[in-house]
Amino acid sequence: MILSIESSCDDSAIAITEIATKKVLYHKKISQEEEHSCYGGVVPELASRLHAVTLPKLLEETKPYFDKLKAVAVTNQPGLGVTLLEGIAMAKTLATLQDIPLISVHHLKGHIYSLFIEKETLFPLLVLLISGGHTQVIRVESFEHMEILATSIDDSVGESFDKCAKMMGLGYPGGPLIEALARKGDENRFDLPVPLRNSPLIAFSLSGLKNAVRLKVEALGGSDKMSEQDRADLSASFQKAVKLHLLQKSKKIFAKEEIKDFAIVGGASANKYIRNAYEKLCSEFGKTLHVAPLEYCSDNAAMIGRYAIEAYEKQQFIDPNEIDIASTKKQQSGMLL
Ligand code: KG4
Ligand code: ZN
Repeated sequence: MILSIESSCDDSAIAITEIATKKVLYHKKISQEEEHSCYGGVVPELASRLHAVTLPKLLEETKPYFDKLKAVAVTNQPGLGVTLLEGIAMAKTLATLQDIPLISVHHLKGHIYSLFIEKETLFPLLVLLISGGHTQVIRVESFEHMEILATSIDDSVGESFDKCAKMMGLGYPGGPLIEALARKGDENRFDLPVPLRNSPLIAFSLSGLKNAVRLKVEALGGSDKMSEQDRADLSASFQKAVKLHLLQKSKKIFAKEEIKDFAIVGGASANKYIRNAYEKLCSEFGKTLHVAPLEYCSDNAAMIGRYAIEAYEKQQFIDPNEIDIASTKKQQSGMLL
């Protein structure tokens, strides 16, 4: 069995996965959404202190599995430095005390492997990753070969939902709140710009749209003066612009890429409005859409464990004295590996 730890942002999670069957035997996550809600976003120092309390509680529950552990896996990049270090410290200690190998996991690869929890891998695959930290399209040929085809030049999709929710006086995380409000709203009431609509760039951009939402909130007299209907209409109009942007750029990629299997992963892939839009796009282009089970869309340790099974089979271990929060230089150069 592999014990996996995730603490890259505001979720403390631990999973136990059986290597031979790929089955998740234990998974628990303690989210800090409530604690960060009044700030409208994650406060790193607070998040790190909360991990220091919650991770040991979860670890305690996994003690019955300790004598069957073959390896410990932990997210080491990308994420908030101070929160990653909490998980890393725990993983290093456990690997040393149990005398078992340590596996470092790239969080975004973990999201990709959320598709294969309790399943076999499926490659090649085109992946749209929409999370709080990233917005990317990745061509995944195999465990070793992943290439970023498009990325955001500024904010991520999840972040834009969170910031727009904050501007409208909603809580955190903004994604589920905006999606729920949007169901009651008129998506055509506010004319918001579809980002990079006239640009040949195959990239994403959310900051201009976020600013356009800010101007609408100001024009309505600020979040305090907005009615429930204003909030619902603005949420729906914003969500529609995000959808049109994602679809427009995805179409350009679909026209070039022959890979038949397409997946959406990351926290924002839980959004049903976006999922439905991709369902239609995929059938137009003869592609099959894959998504992870809802409980594994947002950050979790089961996806870290699933990736770790592949790393374990390839004996890709790291010395506990050498593990660190790695730099993202390679990622910026367009390669995940
Ligand atoms: O993958 P994730 O849990 O964390 C990162 O790796 O960043 O993603 C969290 C993000 C948050 O920004 C949250 O607002 C967004 O995913 N999110 C959503 C929805 N559910 C979560 N965004 C849009 N619609 C949703 N239903
Ligand atoms: Zn994530």
